[in-house]
Amino acid sequence: VTDSKAINSCVIGWPISHSRSPLIHGFWLQKYGIDGTYTKRAVEPENLASFFSSMKEKGLSGCNVTIPHKEQAAKLITNLDDRARRIGSVNTVYLQDSALHATSTDGEGFCRNIETALPDWSFQGKSILMIGAGGSSRAIADELLRRGANRIALANRTIAKAEQLRLVFGKQIEPIGLAEIGNHLPHCDLLVNTTSAGLAGASDIPVDLSRLREDAVVTDIVYTPLKTQLITNAENRGLRIVTGLGMLLHQAVRGFELWFGVKPVVTEELYTLIARDIDPGYQP
Ligand code: ATR
Repeated sequence: VTDSKAINSCVIGWPISHSRSPLIHGFWLQKYGIDGTYTKRAVEPENLASFFSSMKEKGLSGCNVTIPHKEQAAKLITNLDDRARRIGSVNTVYLQDSALHATSTDGEGFCRNIETALPDWSFQGKSILMIGAGGSSRAIADELLRRGANRIALANRTIAKAEQLRLVFGKQIEPIGLAEIGNHLPHCDLLVNTTSAGLAGASDIPVDLSRLREDAVVTDIVYTPLKTQLITNAENRGLRIVTGLGMLLHQAVRGFELWFGVKPVVTEELYTLIARDIDPGYQP
């Protein structure tokens, strides 16, 4: 039930039906007893500008932005923070003094996920091997460098896109082709997959994990399935793994705090709720 005092937010995308953000924010609204709503709204690309200009009229305090609007939203919104400006993409929009502001919390969500899963972990001085050079990769690379990563070997099918990231982020980024992954495996502390290649059970980009050091960590930002083939292979090899669902949960923290005024905690209970929505047989 909404009344005039309720704070309202939503997630916009096209299509939007698959989004699990309402489940995450709904869980927190209930947990913290906040008078608020978080819904999903399908917004066609040609209606994105008018959606933003009428947010206040619609009674919205902000919104999350997902595929395919993240880049276009960064062009439409004038008040971008450092992160959003640098990566040219936003996922979190909020009204402040009647003006629209936006940021990207994807990189932060990625890093918080690893830091929470591995309490002794620090990105400082690390060598990263990242596969994929799309929008998510950009957000993650930016945050990794902010957190002191030493270098990022960036493997992509279309090498020009990895080269583009080197232009933006500098020479700590080393663009490589997919065929060169093997040569970089023995030197990396963290292997990250950001490509959609293994999505929903499709075959992953082949990686010979036997070439990784024993103390290397493997993570995948894909969370459908909850454990991708890459994660399962790494687990079977006895490596430390971090699954992708935590990134989705952690990227949501900042938006919730901006709109509703409470910094929510990512708990085991929340993880299980969303994991069961993806795979009803999930056992913690
Ligand atoms: P996101 O916002 O999730 O990063 P994106 O910007 O569409 O999505 O990027 C998708 C990434 O997955 C890209 O790195 C893409 O490689 P290309 O730049 O060469 O297109 C990668 N990708 C998707 N499907 C792939 C496949 N079957 N094999 C290799 N790479 C794939």
